[in-house]
Amino acid sequence: MKILLGVTGSISGYKSAVITRFLVKNGWEVQVVLTKGGAQFITPLSLSTVSKNAVLTEFYDPKTGEWNNHVHLAHWADVMLIAPASANTIAKLANGFCDELLHALYLSAVCPKIVAPAMDHDMWHHASVQRNVKQLLADGVHIIGPEKGELASGINGDGRLAEPDAIVSFIQQFVS
Ligand SMILES: Cc1cc2nc3c(=O)[nH]c(=O)nc-3n(C[C@H](O)[C@H](O)[C@H](O)COP(=O)(O)O)c2cc1C
Repeated sequence: MKILLGVTGSISGYKSAVITRFLVKNGWEVQVVLTKGGAQFITPLSLSTVSKNAVLTEFYDPKTGEWNNHVHLAHWADVMLIAPASANTIAKLANGFCDELLHALYLSAVCPKIVAPAMDHDMWHHASVQRNVKQLLADGVHIIGPEKGELASGINGDGRLAEPDAIVSFIQQFVS
């Protein structure tokens, strides 16, 4: 099975390497797509090493000008997972913005889509974020988490990324 893993700008971005490892161990072919924000939190080198695949961020390779064909990639995937999904990316997905490769892939993909939000408690409970999440659910997207627990800000509350093993189990059950 083939999965597109979108990684966005969240402090929990490092957990995407663990998710990738679990997926690879379960036999998935993983193509990681990192937003520019995501690359502030985890390097392409870490994710390409664990996924055994080059990580994509740009619409095209700036050296060669070659297009990272998002239409082909979107159709290649059996499942698309975005984990962690930032408030910014959730807003873009809910409203059809596609100024980055990941968001264009989301619009082009016809496979099931799973989004795992991660953010601080008050961000998660903000009316605009809740409105965008409702829109994603109405669009047929599966939402996993977030969980309650200790957050990077030090607050104990909602917004913690679902645990990597829970995310991977969810996907495994979903496809079986
Ligand atoms: C230290 C730090 C931690 C952040 N953690 C989060 C987070 O967990 N969730 C979130 O939605 N935004 C978080 N942000 C803000 C995002 O990185 C920012 O909105 C970014 O533009 C997201 O871009 P992307 O959605 O294109 O990846 C954080 C910013 C900083 C500086």
